[in-house]
Amino acid sequence: MLYDINFCFTIIKYSMIEKTLVIVKPDGVVRGLVGEVVKRIEKKGLKIVAMKMIWINKRLAEKQYEMHKGKPFYEGLIKYITSAPSVVMVVEGKEAIKVVRNLVGATNPREALPGSIRGDFAIGLPNNIVHASDSRKTAEREIRIYFNDNEIYDYRRCDEEWLGED
Ligand code: CMP
Repeated sequence: MLYDINFCFTIIKYSMIEKTLVIVKPDGVVRGLVGEVVKRIEKKGLKIVAMKMIWINKRLAEKQYEMHKGKPFYEGLIKYITSAPSVVMVVEGKEAIKVVRNLVGATNPREALPGSIRGDFAIGLPNNIVHASDSRKTAEREIRIYFNDNEIYDYRRCDEEWLGED
């Protein structure tokens, strides 16, 4: 019986582990904010399991932002995201999608709370420094745009046992 309960807890714990796609967008790279973004993600207790710098081209940009096609800001968004290199990463952790979006802050930097990345470092759209997936389904789709399975690593942080049991 005890074994069954422990087994259930283990399943619940693992089902909370999510992967999300984070992009430090061209303004973040050009303004020297890559380290700041990475620092906040790592210090929170999340794990970076894949990361690379790429210059997002038109084809990738259109794939990334297909749901915004036709919106008034779409053309400007494509121009912005292809204007300089970006750093793309896969971030893993408990409820990582929600946790990262809280770290990043509201889409409009003027509405993003101080303490969030956009709240602290950005002032206008589309230049909001970071992109983070908004759901499990989106995360899966977006990760596939930039990474193969063999580029995503499985390892343990040395402080995992100190990051909380729940
Ligand atoms: P992101 O989180 O990458 O998702 C879509 C992006 O479109 C968003 O960040 C901004 O960079 C951009 N965006 C969203 N809304 C607007 C807007 N109203 N005007 C200009 N750019 C926008």
